[in-house]
Amino acid sequence: MKKALTLITLTAAMAAAANANAAGVTVTIACGTVGIELKMCQDGGARWAKATGNTVKVFQSPNLTNDRLGLYQQQLAAKSSDIDVYQLDVVWPGQLAQHFIDLNGKVPAATIKSYFPGMIAADTVGSKLVALPWFTDAGLLYYRTDMLKKYGYTKAPTTWAELATMAAKIQAGEQKTNKQFVGYVFQGKDYEGLTCDAVEWVVSNGGGTIVDASGKITINNPNAAKALDTAASWVKTISPSGVTTYGEEEARGIFQAGNSAFMRNWPYAWALGQGADSKVKGKIGVAPLPKGTGAGARNAAALGGWQLGVSQYSKNQEAAISLVTYLAGPAEQKIRAIEGTYNPTLPALYKDADILKANPFFGSLYSVFTGAAARPSGPTGVKYNQVSQAFSGAVHDVLTGKTNGTKAVAGLATTLARIKGTGW
Ligand code: GLC
Repeated sequence: MKKALTLITLTAAMAAAANANAAGVTVTIACGTVGIELKMCQDGGARWAKATGNTVKVFQSPNLTNDRLGLYQQQLAAKSSDIDVYQLDVVWPGQLAQHFIDLNGKVPAATIKSYFPGMIAADTVGSKLVALPWFTDAGLLYYRTDMLKKYGYTKAPTTWAELATMAAKIQAGEQKTNKQFVGYVFQGKDYEGLTCDAVEWVVSNGGGTIVDASGKITINNPNAAKALDTAASWVKTISPSGVTTYGEEEARGIFQAGNSAFMRNWPYAWALGQGADSKVKGKIGVAPLPKGTGAGARNAAALGGWQLGVSQYSKNQEAAISLVTYLAGPAEQKIRAIEGTYNPTLPALYKDADILKANPFFGSLYSVFTGAAARPSGPTGVKYNQVSQAFSGAVHDVLTGKTNGTKAVAGLATTLARIKGTGW
């Protein structure tokens, strides 16, 4: 008799525990890698959890976007329900659309309308809204205001030739007392980040976007070849030989330690560069990346950015949609813009006084963010990753002196034609 009673009590206790769990579900989000991104994602997730009574787990991902894509493709191909929400690169929707739920009809239409229309278009594959835009990115030129002044310059360079001249002069002067000092750091490693930098070099020299909007392969042209040769001329002159192994964080490490006059990076480097542990706090300027000399040359920033999408295989889709809507909403975007310089995807926030105070260049460089050059992920669809890898590989060969611009773009056109086959 006693035994039976104990059993009943236990069952009641178990039922009570089950009910408590039903009040909240656990949502797992794959997000945040570079810089303070991980911490900011954890903080945002915790705020949502507190507001809704749910729990968030953050799935840690590798730093390089290529490695993340590989890992996520494995998860998705296995139809794994381990990750509910994925942070997606702006170049991925075309490749991954089939694995994500359609947010149209699940997120209020007015919310969808509040984003930059171009970003919603980029996240829409066919008629499916694969993800909500979380933050946008554009390549920027960072420079040391104190160094420019010291060497008699009154403004940032506007052409690549000017940048090379200024970087060489500052480097020569600074190396007298600091052997580690270099003129220019950028993303020269063979990965997606190099695709971004090299698209900027090529577009800014009037050489097109590898593949044009109609799907035509355009890379084999003299302006593109020259842009790559120009970038190669920086290696071992104004940039260290190691630049061909740098991603975003390696470049930032050197610039933030006070060892480079110029740096190409994304906006996130601003907030970190102004941090208490930064040697260049208060000495950083931000300008549009310079332009080249070819016909049609213009300033060009690569369009980057990250979206949040809900996996088809999630067992908690409703809560996952709630998390995505919350994180990509105005209050969270404001916090992220102020604390981490993550560019909002909501036009209204570019008029927010607090955001502009934290990031003055959001106002002055607004057209850089809205006019950034897209990588050809739209026209090349599911084959984009192959196109990008072929491109960054060819560019890397030019940077490391294995080939020159003319041969590289000709070879690349052949490779791309093979990848394209009868169509993208
Ligand atoms: C940034 C951009 C992303 C790009 C990546 C390359 O994270 O936002 O779009 O693919 O850098 O490293």
